[in-house]
Amino acid sequence: MTVRMVVNGKQVERDVEPRRLLADVLREDLDLRGTHLGCEHGVCGACTVLVDGKPVRSCLMLAVQADGAEVTTVEGLAGENGELHPLQQAFSDHHALQCGFCTPGFLLTASYLLEQGIDVDDEAALREALSGNLCRCTGYHNIVDAVRDAAGKGK
Ligand code: FES
Ligand code: FES
Repeated sequence: MTVRMVVNGKQVERDVEPRRLLADVLREDLDLRGTHLGCEHGVCGACTVLVDGKPVRSCLMLAVQADGAEVTTVEGLAGENGELHPLQQAFSDHHALQCGFCTPGFLLTASYLLEQGIDVDDEAALREALSGNLCRCTGYHNIVDAVRDAAGKGK
């Protein structure tokens, strides 16, 4: 089946088998390997991308379901000239990653939360909102600090 999507601002069209996951098509067909696959059953959040502006687990979505959608992966966060997205800069500044495996998913979830105007001063609510993304390395403190910083309210 032909799937047409706008991925990171570019129109793409691919023939894909209906059984294939969005994550696999992004990684294997479009070579966007910043979308990571961890659990592959909707638990870890590593595969999070934005579909029509909302966070989606791309390991649970078929590529054909994204037909006609706008998809943003971590590769689409930086500016056209390569300048880091404020969240990427904040993650770097706050050492909010170690192995980095979870980072693309966190960045996309956090970008959605900031877009939605989450109150980053409510740390409990922010932690709850980020809780769909798992990190095995950082203990989360620096991730929360980074998101707050990116919102212009850093410590
Ligand atoms: S790989 Fe999709 S939620 Fe873990
Ligand atoms: S930085 Fe390693 S899993 Fe989060």
